[in-house]
Amino acid sequence: MRERGPLAPKPAAMSFEEAAAVCDGAALALGCLRAANVRQGRSILIYGASGSIGTAAVQLARYMGADVTAVCNAKNVELVRSLGADCVIDYTRADFTQNGEAYDVVFDAVGMQPFGRCRDSIRPGGAYLATDHLHNLALAAWTSRIGNRKVLFPIPPKYTKEDVLFLKQLIEEGHYRAVVDRRYPLDDVVDAAAYVETKQKTGNVVLTVT
Ligand SMILES: NC(=O)c1ccc[n+]([C@@H]2O[C@H](COP(=O)([O-])OP(=O)(O)OC[C@H]3O[C@@H](n4cnc5c(N)ncnc54)[C@H](OP(=O)(O)O)[C@@H]3O)[C@@H](O)[C@H]2O)c1
Repeated sequence: MRERGPLAPKPAAMSFEEAAAVCDGAALALGCLRAANVRQGRSILIYGASGSIGTAAVQLARYMGADVTAVCNAKNVELVRSLGADCVIDYTRADFTQNGEAYDVVFDAVGMQPFGRCRDSIRPGGAYLATDHLHNLALAAWTSRIGNRKVLFPIPPKYTKEDVLFLKQLIEEGHYRAVVDRRYPLDDVVDAAAYVETKQKTGNVVLTVT
């Protein structure tokens, strides 16, 4: 990578394992939240708040001043609350699409809640943020012209040196931390990938190279 590329010195107080876990989810979440103009006074529901993108999105949306509702499994409720969510919904007990609430932005951070299901939970003029499934590209084009709720699918993730320096600053100021679930030695990369594919990891999985 060129020196002017998207890289920054590792925050001094952060381990290499933690620093590795900052890259992907945070960069993706940052691009998505900016595309939806998440800011002070706006509300956002983050579905899949305990994943890699989700744990990053909760912290970044909170930093941007939004009112954050997070959806995750019962076992992750306390973690997600500690990341700054104002309200946490356990999806094993409650269906957010049926609670009568509406948000400025619904962010499906794990690709499991289609736009059609979320539509009534999005305020008029609001947005649905997608992270997966190519049909969302067609929906994004369609809803940019028709209707009052937009689908946004900011792929591929683009991030700049300024973004990486911004994340470094947030980490150093104590506004952001990487959530690391398991660490695997590089030799066990197959086991690591199998665990990630269970969709049950919390935050990130890191490979260590000795
Ligand atoms: N657009 C892009 O360029 C791009 C790049 C990378 C990834 N992606 C996509 O972004 C999505 C998220 O990636 P990721 O790596 O952040 O995901 P991830 O960390 O693998 O997601 C794992 C999380 O999914 C949650 N989960 C599993 N089943 C669930 C359910 N039924 N309802 C709600 N949550 C559930 C789990 O939370 P609980 O334990 O709390 O249930 C777990 O914390 C994926 O679909 C991936 O393909 C897109």
